[in-house]
Amino acid sequence: GDVAVLVPAAGAGVRLGPGGPKALRLLGGEPLLVHAVRRIAAAPSVHTVVVAAPAAEVDAVRRLLDPVAPVLVVAGGAERQASVANALAAVPPGPAIVLVHDAARALTPSALVEAVAAAVRAGHQAVIPVLPVVDTIKEVDADGVVLGTVDRSALRAVQTPQGFRREVLAAAHAAAGDPLTDDAGLVEQQGVPVFCVPGSEYALKVTRPFDLTLAEQLLAAGH
Ligand code: C5P
Repeated sequence: GDVAVLVPAAGAGVRLGPGGPKALRLLGGEPLLVHAVRRIAAAPSVHTVVVAAPAAEVDAVRRLLDPVAPVLVVAGGAERQASVANALAAVPPGPAIVLVHDAARALTPSALVEAVAAAVRAGHQAVIPVLPVVDTIKEVDADGVVLGTVDRSALRAVQTPQGFRREVLAAAHAAAGDPLTDDAGLVEQQGVPVFCVPGSEYALKVTRPFDLTLAEQLLAAGH
């Protein structure tokens, strides 16, 4: 394997309601993080997995993942970007490709991990999985008044895993300013082209209670 996967899993999960760090919330009796790591580790290209856990949960997460797959566990940071930077710093020499994958996308198929890695291997410096936007999107002001309708055909909803040449991601994080919500955004700021590949409905991010209900159904159906 020539791929290291960084798994930011240090978020509080406030939007999911009360119940502790999101990555440790249960889905079908197992934490979201366990589902995510199992699917990552099953991808043949994956050499190393580094998880950024809530600082207070590093030892507990190590014990949790020990029977699932060989992983390195580091403490995350206050923002997702800091969690990714901490995980990146722990990648051993070797892997030329680094993927960043949210623990909250617990049911992401191993095939999507492989597809993103393959696109990087094929020569793209940065690769993101995307889906078309199905809803009409409007820009709205602070009073709830519509300012305009955005051309949906040019929009994409962006998922993870996002894949990078290792040196490209390292340079983007070294130069990073204000925290962004994804890693491709940092790479874009460096002027590096970012290439899109088809995403997967199963890579949905468990964010709100409805998402957890949907993920339970998908898991029960065998995904
Ligand atoms: O908050 P959001 O849903 O965008 O979080 C995406 C991922 O980033 C989650 O897996 C979450 O655990 C992780 N995260 C993190 N460190 C933070 C905040 C979020 O690792 N400080």
